[in-house]
Amino acid sequence: MMNWLCEWWRGGTAVVEPAAVRDAARLAQIHGASFAQGWGESEFEIMIGERNTLVHRLRLGRRVIGFAVSRIGADEAEILSVAVDSAHRGRGLSRSLLLTHMGHLAGRGVRTIFLEVEENNQPARRLYAATGFVVVGRRERYYKQANGEQLNALLMRRDLS
Ligand SMILES: CC(C)(COP(=O)(O)OP(=O)(O)OC[C@H]1O[C@@H](n2cnc3c(N)ncnc32)[C@H](O)[C@@H]1OP(=O)(O)O)[C@@H](O)C(=O)NCCC(=O)NCCS
Repeated sequence: MMNWLCEWWRGGTAVVEPAAVRDAARLAQIHGASFAQGWGESEFEIMIGERNTLVHRLRLGRRVIGFAVSRIGADEAEILSVAVDSAHRGRGLSRSLLLTHMGHLAGRGVRTIFLEVEENNQPARRLYAATGFVVVGRRERYYKQANGEQLNALLMRRDLS
């Protein structure tokens, strides 16, 4: 009873499912609030329509609260972006989002996944470590901030067996 009540209070069970073109505006909104350089609605529309790009949405009840985007090339993929609405962070939702997304990549024949993450982005680094990614490289001063600050990127890899 208590579990059901808690879930109801939080808005229901989170589900991960393919994004549709009608989600583009909401995904752009979440992206813009999560990253210094936001992607626009039209960019999401294009990615959702592309065959080599995989876009999943994280939905809680009727509200889309996150997404994962990857680009596939042969048997490799790159995770381009993962984000959860700030109001819903810290509850482990990104883990099921990413694991489901990776399961679909495996289903598309992907054997290796790469991604880049800002070195000081602890929530993202913990997420990627928990989902089996390992650091395979480092790019100095890779991200340029609006204030001129330059941040390092880590290149991470996960093999799907
Ligand atoms: C990264 C992100 C997707 C994680 O989503 P989330 O649903 O909040 O993830 P979780 O609740 O599973 O938390 C992830 C881990 O970060 C930890 N964490 C959360 N906030 C933290 C903080 N401020 N400092 C350090 N660790 C933190 C959590 O404890 C968890 O680690 P654990 O599983 O070892 O306990 C989310 O923070 C986000 O959207 N950030 C902005 C976009 C972004 O940076 N995306 C990644 C780009 S590469």
